Amino acid sequence: MAETTLKARARHAARRLSRLRWLTKRGILHHYGVSLRDRPALYLRYLLWDPEVESYSYDIANDDELCAFAEANFGVTARQARDFLSEARRDPELTTRLSERTRWRFDAKNKLPIGNRLLWYVAARARKPELIVETGIYEGLGSLVLLRALERNADDGVEGRLVSIDVDPMCGFLVRDESALTARWTKVIGMTGDLLPEVVAGRPIGMLLQDTPHTEENQRYEFGVALRQADDPVILIEGSGGYCPTLGELADQLGLQREHFVERPRDHFYPAPGQGVLVVPADCASGWNGWPGPERQAA
Ligand SMILES: C[S@@+](CC[C@H](N)C(=O)[O-])C[C@H]1O[C@@H](n2cnc3c(N)ncnc32)[C@H](O)[C@@H]1O
Repeated sequence: MAETTLKARARHAARRLSRLRWLTKRGILHHYGVSLRDRPALYLRYLLWDPEVESYSYDIANDDELCAFAEANFGVTARQARDFLSEARRDPELTTRLSERTRWRFDAKNKLPIGNRLLWYVAARARKPELIVETGIYEGLGSLVLLRALERNADDGVEGRLVSIDVDPMCGFLVRDESALTARWTKVIGMTGDLLPEVVAGRPIGMLLQDTPHTEENQRYEFGVALRQADDPVILIEGSGGYCPTLGELADQLGLQREHFVERPRDHFYPAPGQGVLVVPADCASGWNGWPGPERQAA
């Protein structure tokens, strides 16, 4: 068995027991300044039973701000954005069927909120890109949300595809193996640095969700691929909350404004860092001369 598969199996086996990692969870609560005295219900619920220790899911409490952000950046009215939000929140695939999928899993929440993927959903519904690229799949929550947006876009007469890539061969279990869902999905296992240009070759990219670790090296490489074959426009989104400067540097190079949307998690301690968004028209992308300095991602 390949070494990467063995490592992935070991990682997934450890993750299966994450609900029981009380010391780790106590450390996380301490790190985020949550005390038993100030927030007893939230503290105990997380400490005793929550399975999420490396990535958090939550609903959001600032729909109005998200809708205003979509109006300013994605070419829809705030009202249309609100319709997309309610469509996602009522979608059986993203609610009841998702719960059925996680019900008996010890390593996933029984009700997985999609709040921190709603910006992606609204962007995909608003701009209806023909090709979306997601770097980093993990359990597949983002992929599932994007695939549902593509299905709805197809119902509206605009076909599109999602290419998602992850180095973990066991990623993406939240996406049911059901043809209506997976028909528009190319799931690629490998490093973005090795495979991304090849899997998107010759196809204009309308949206790229940069969700491998938000390092400068990854971002320069993955955003570089998107800019070299940008659709009009290409939307670049990353979730570092601004600690990684790449998107801001890119905006400066192109004479554009990098925008930033900060979700307000509902009933969760995580201080969401927010998502950087850059909308690049094709004429800007075609005039881009590449990064100064090294861009190649290490294998
Ligand atoms: C934050 S998670 C992705 C979350 C996912 N987009 C979602 O919405 O739930 C990051 C993922 O990136 C993968 N990863 C890390 N470095 C990578 C690389 N260089 N190429 C491909 N995948 C990578 C990890 O295996 C991990 O599953």
